[in-house]
Amino acid sequence: MATRQLRVTSRKLPPKLLVFILLIVIPISVIGICIHGQKISYFFRPVWDNPPPPFERIPHYYAENISMEHLCHLHGWSIRSEPRRIFDGIIFSNELDLLEIRWHELDPYVSKFVILESNTTFTGIPKPLFFASNHARFDFAKDKIVHGVFPGRVAFHGSHEEPFVLESEQRGAMNGLLRQAEISTGDLLIMSDTDEIPSPHTLKLLQWCDGIPSLLHLELRHYMYSFEFPVDYSSWRASIQIYGPWTRYRHSRQTNLILSDAGWHCSFCFRHLEEFVFKMTAYSHADRVKQKDFLDYSRIQRIVCKGDDLFDMLPEEYTFQELIKKMGSIPHSASAVHLPAYVIENADKFRFLLPGGCLRTS
Ligand SMILES: *[C@@H]1O[C@H](CO)[C@@H](O)[C@H](O)[C@H]1NC(C)=O
Ligand SMILES: *[C@@H]1O[C@H](CO)[C@@H](O)[C@H](O)[C@H]1NC(C)=O
Repeated sequence: MATRQLRVTSRKLPPKLLVFILLIVIPISVIGICIHGQKISYFFRPVWDNPPPPFERIPHYYAENISMEHLCHLHGWSIRSEPRRIFDGIIFSNELDLLEIRWHELDPYVSKFVILESNTTFTGIPKPLFFASNHARFDFAKDKIVHGVFPGRVAFHGSHEEPFVLESEQRGAMNGLLRQAEISTGDLLIMSDTDEIPSPHTLKLLQWCDGIPSLLHLELRHYMYSFEFPVDYSSWRASIQIYGPWTRYRHSRQTNLILSDAGWHCSFCFRHLEEFVFKMTAYSHADRVKQKDFLDYSRIQRIVCKGDDLFDMLPEEYTFQELIKKMGSIPHSASAVHLPAYVIENADKFRFLLPGGCLRTS
């Protein structure tokens, strides 16, 4: 019996089946792996990758109309006799609407808005100076703005300069611009991208309390396309620190400490479809634009209304449980509570950021 079965399974494959496998199944699998290779490797990320070490989350207390003294004490800190000055340092690309929201929101607490923009993208494509050509829109803050232009380099075909090189050079240039803005030891410095907005009460807490850590990351609620699509609390790159002689502008992990629920990070929160296309080709992960039709306006519009992924990628997760939870579209939210006050005050102007406002103009 056993030998007979063995003989059956080891018998040669019929020639037709062999031809079928050679000509159809293998080519399709190869094409499939080429197209979906990223998806396959991301799906198995929990197997090949380890999560970064966890942050130590500082509990964050806040409610309206609670005294500053009480809030400082709840965090184990004490109240100062006068607030620290705050400098807000950002490297700007093209997020004009979010910049307007950011600066209006933070204006009561910030001494200087330090903004650096380049005439090329991180990927080496010439780009307009979006801030310089729209500065009239920011006249409300003109006495506080310190604006610098970084001379970028155009990438030529065949040059393999990594976008991260230009990005880190710009972060270096930011150090000079901060000194030009006359930042000094003991001031608070926010290091974040334009779309990572600390909440005003977070800034007020940190500027009024003594005993705060000298450097901490800000855990921001992460949204995609608008406040209609809250993703999670995974945003950690923004940080705030007490400036000292050794402070260097960075946008990477600098400490294990993170202050919980400290603001908003709204990715790809653009009013116009062409802004999506610009960002998709310009930012440091431009290699993710794998197919031309990725930049198609009707495709982008469809994805923005569904809460799907612009780059057709799987979420970056380190356990199968989290990965499966996050697969598919981001669920719609109907909440416009606890958002930047300036968005609510000007709800008509910022309809595209609010629930039900997903239709964009081109
Ligand atoms: C806020 O606090 C003040 C004084 O503590 C009080 O008079 C006022 O009614 C409070 N406002 C609200 C909205 O609770
Ligand atoms: C960017 O600005 C620098 C300095 O003004 C200039 O030399 C360079 O040609 C500009 N590059 C582009 C692509 O406009």
